[in-house]
Amino acid sequence: SAPVVVVLDGPAGTGKSTVSREIAAQLGYSFLDTGAMYRAMTFWLLNAGVDVDDADAVAVASGKPVIVSGTDAAGPTITVDGVDVSGPIREQPVTAAVSAVSAVAEVRTRLVELQRASALHAERGIVAEGRDMGTVVFPRADVKVFLTASAETRAARRAAQLGVTDLTEIAAILADINRRDTADSSRATAPLRKADDAVEVDTSEMTPDQVVAHIIGLVHQRV
Ligand code: C5P
Repeated sequence: SAPVVVVLDGPAGTGKSTVSREIAAQLGYSFLDTGAMYRAMTFWLLNAGVDVDDADAVAVASGKPVIVSGTDAAGPTITVDGVDVSGPIREQPVTAAVSAVSAVAEVRTRLVELQRASALHAERGIVAEGRDMGTVVFPRADVKVFLTASAETRAARRAAQLGVTDLTEIAAILADINRRDTADSSRATAPLRKADDAVEVDTSEMTPDQVVAHIIGLVHQRV
């Protein structure tokens, strides 16, 4: 039978990645971090000296890198042209440029194709997380979740992840999250949006374990 498809969308800092990975682990499904794919594309473009604010240049160049996301014993991996880029894609230059890159239609067409192929090749099921999983990439997903959290909660979580305690730096993280969410929600192609049939879960007052248990409950109800 076809693999079960569980999707999680939502803005930055809602805990999507942590929660999606854990759900996949508990259900024995594969895990797909689509943000990592947009980040890997961005990393390659920056390295290649492409002006990421030039949408035409991005569109042309975006056909070149070979992006592969997979899993090894240590967890999810992402490579570009055979090189593991898991570390550098989390750094500031990529984070600052990724929204411009992900707004380019040609980039999305190419990565969406890879995302759908991953789901086809999943053994039992897949947990895919991103911004447009429920609306564009997997409109017929078995379970659709849209995660939210207050902006302050999201900034605090991101700061904790990065080990930042300085208030000025936390304010900068909050500003960066808000900038990225506005860009992702207002772009013309596949904007960040809750699918009409997605279940919204506000994680502000929940621990990751509670969110995981809640979503696994939804999966068991439907599959
Ligand atoms: O989830 P993460 O913060 O790694 O995503 C990085 C960026 O990739 C997002 O801010 C967004 O611009 C883009 N993205 C996207 N569509 C997805 C996943 C991520 O446009 N499905």
